[in-house]
Amino acid sequence: MKRITFLLFASLIATVFLLGCEENTKPNDWTDQSEVDPEASTDEKRQITIGLSMDTLIEERWERDRDMFKEAVEAQGAEVVVKAANGNDALQIAQAETMISQGVDLLVLVPHNAEAAATIVGRAQLADIPVISYDRLVKNANVDLYISFDNEQVGVLQAEAMIDVVPQGKYAYIGGASTDNNAHLIKEGVFRVLQPLIDRGDIVVVYDQWTEAWMPMHAKENMRAALAANDNEIDAVIAANDATAGAVIEALTEVGLNGQVPVAGQDAELLGVQRVLSGEQLMTVYKSIRSLTEQAADIAVRMAKGEVIETDIKVNNGKKDVPTLFLTPVTVNADNIETTVIEDGFHTHEDIFE
Ligand code: BGC
Repeated sequence: MKRITFLLFASLIATVFLLGCEENTKPNDWTDQSEVDPEASTDEKRQITIGLSMDTLIEERWERDRDMFKEAVEAQGAEVVVKAANGNDALQIAQAETMISQGVDLLVLVPHNAEAAATIVGRAQLADIPVISYDRLVKNANVDLYISFDNEQVGVLQAEAMIDVVPQGKYAYIGGASTDNNAHLIKEGVFRVLQPLIDRGDIVVVYDQWTEAWMPMHAKENMRAALAANDNEIDAVIAANDATAGAVIEALTEVGLNGQVPVAGQDAELLGVQRVLSGEQLMTVYKSIRSLTEQAADIAVRMAKGEVIETDIKVNNGKKDVPTLFLTPVTVNADNIETTVIEDGFHTHEDIFE
């Protein structure tokens, strides 16, 4: 026999939802009445469940995103179910559909593919489940909120650091995945800074390619191609993240040029920071995953309880102006490792210097 779950919003007129059946008591089950604070509102007693649908866990950052997000949501008495799709669009859609049919209260989505993920948002909307676009924007979809870093600024920081040390010369640009909206934003930021120098003829971009699925092996192939096409004469490389920067440095190492050609990356991955220290990588960009996950968790739980979140910024995703929150990225170079990633607890002194 079906169990009927009633959801009464605190001070509102009683609204009744039919939620789930006996064998699926989670996530929309009543909390055991004996354990709850009798003072708490009915809404607070219900266990909130957030679905986190991730593209990948390959880069170092994503495991932190997953763990810190879970921790922050749980600290608020809610729970998280996580699925990662290994860069497979069909799998990500199937996993998200499962979470939707299991009745998560809200979906936090890191899309593998900005366009394909619109299917997920559509399905969630049909089930009345709000969607937060996390770190990456889903395009052409009715996303409820977008939270990320200012990705154009990531590119600006990379290019500004690079033109400081290489104001003239041949540049290679190793982009991210063209299916990821962030890759486009980062590139826009980079070229906004480079363009005046390109126009003056000081800088020539001799190579400019996306990296399929952000995979280091493709970035390495790209860098080998860039070197081969230019008789190894490349003065600077801007890579869209630390994983691709690492691959670029491997390709430079093959021709004995590691440490001689400055390379920019982002994410402040441990290996990236260590390469900055050793001089093989010029800089990286630190994005506080702690701040991102804590803010996203707070908003997710509030939205799951029915709160409408207002933001100052809105970003158009092709379908609507999406309420947006941007966090600020920070340059990390050989001079400020201590005062950035170490001080913030992102990496320990021992991990970096061991
Ligand atoms: C993220 C980067 C990450 C890249 C590859 C981008 O969308 O913003 O931090 O390195 O995806 O996963």
